[in-house]
Amino acid sequence: MPEKKDDKMEKIVSLCKRRGFVFQGSEIYGGFVGAYDYGPYGVELANNIKSAWWQAMVNEEKNVVGIDSAIVTDPKVWEASGHVGGFSDPLVECKECNTRSRADHLLEEIDVFADEKMTVEEINAVFDEHRDSLKCPKCGQKNFGAVRNVNLLVQSNLGNFAEDWTDNPAYLRGETCQGIYINFKNVLDSARVKVPFGIAQIGKAFRNEIAPRQYIFRKREFEQMEMQMFVKPEDEMTVYEAWREKRMQYYIDLGFNPENLKWHEHENLVFYAKAAWDIEYNYPFGFKEMEGVHARGNYDLTQHQEASGTSLEYLDQASNEKYIPHVVETSVGVDRTFLAVMTEFYDEDELGGDTRTVMRFPKKLAPIKVAVFPLLKNKPELVAKADEVFSLLSKHMRAEFDDNGNVGKRYRRQDEIGTPACVTIDFDTLGEENPALKDTVTVRDRDTGEQERVAIADLIEKLK
Ligand code: GAP
Repeated sequence: MPEKKDDKMEKIVSLCKRRGFVFQGSEIYGGFVGAYDYGPYGVELANNIKSAWWQAMVNEEKNVVGIDSAIVTDPKVWEASGHVGGFSDPLVECKECNTRSRADHLLEEIDVFADEKMTVEEINAVFDEHRDSLKCPKCGQKNFGAVRNVNLLVQSNLGNFAEDWTDNPAYLRGETCQGIYINFKNVLDSARVKVPFGIAQIGKAFRNEIAPRQYIFRKREFEQMEMQMFVKPEDEMTVYEAWREKRMQYYIDLGFNPENLKWHEHENLVFYAKAAWDIEYNYPFGFKEMEGVHARGNYDLTQHQEASGTSLEYLDQASNEKYIPHVVETSVGVDRTFLAVMTEFYDEDELGGDTRTVMRFPKKLAPIKVAVFPLLKNKPELVAKADEVFSLLSKHMRAEFDDNGNVGKRYRRQDEIGTPACVTIDFDTLGEENPALKDTVTVRDRDTGEQERVAIADLIEKLK
């Protein structure tokens, strides 16, 4: 029987918990909605996802530099960007069980288009038209109140000691790119960059999502990887198309099946945007946005120039032309990439007569690159040699030492966390029976289960 999509999601969630990839936030207190913690293998995978992105977006680009801006900024930043006034989602509450849902998501489920860019009147009109077909996802009743917009910015009292600080809150950033815009001039003045150039950043963002759901897909605290390319106004769409191509190719080069990726054009553009397309991934719950690629015009820089009183114009030294650069943005969540990677590389197969679960991560994403096993843990000579091999390898790659249980079980565990190779130190390594095999080990391949004998001296080269 073909696997149901929900089964795959359940299997991934269970593997993530069992093997220490992802834990529910504040789990011992019953869980805190919209927050998740990455465990020992999750943090390695997330770090590798971020490194792969940084490698492609900064290291391999001649004209992109990185920054790491503060999470909390002057509140004026969020007023100028339009987030204080207009960064909201449409909320609707079930009158029977008080469950809050996103009105646009309920409509989407019955194939009716609505989005957060609509006015509250527009979305209420659409919602009212379809009330009879809309059910509360919790209790199944059809008794909703009116749709209202709720602001997604998360407030903070950082540096504010007034009793009622909510009159004048600071905000946790709702997207990382505002930190890029407000540092545009600093980077321009310090980093010897010329338009066209990009600024990239990876960092946490916070949104008061009405209904966080689908595991780590929609969180209240999440992480973004964003790059803003500052370009001449007339070059915006050419640069945009080039980045669109690069970003899709990026996932294919990482090892994603192109059939699990597709483009989705935004139906409803904000007034300043020229184009907005999403790269959607085929998650276990269907195709959904993983990354957005946007042509944003010069709206953000213009807003910050006006609100701050600081000129954000660029002077082209060659032509003496002055202008506010336009922006091409690529924006993707670490968490959504993480879930896509877990989905894409999850596999079950039969090996040696047993069914196994295997994460077929590409080597550069694998949390652990190699596991080192002494064949038996009660033979000090084997353990000492395995220690030596671990010390050697761990200077070059993330390695794990495991002496627990029989080797077959250790292989299965490493398959589940996606370790590409396991190295076993056995009696042949000690050269007791056959001196020709002294200082050789067994290397077992995750994908095929095949084993080969490799000299310790050649291991690093072999595993890299
Ligand atoms: N600067 C543009 C921007 O923030 P967005 O479409 O709101 O655009 C960009 O977000 C990306 O950030 C999304 O494609 C998604 O990968 C990630 N993202 C947004 N909201 C998220 C959430 N609540 N949980 C996890 N990831 C989220």
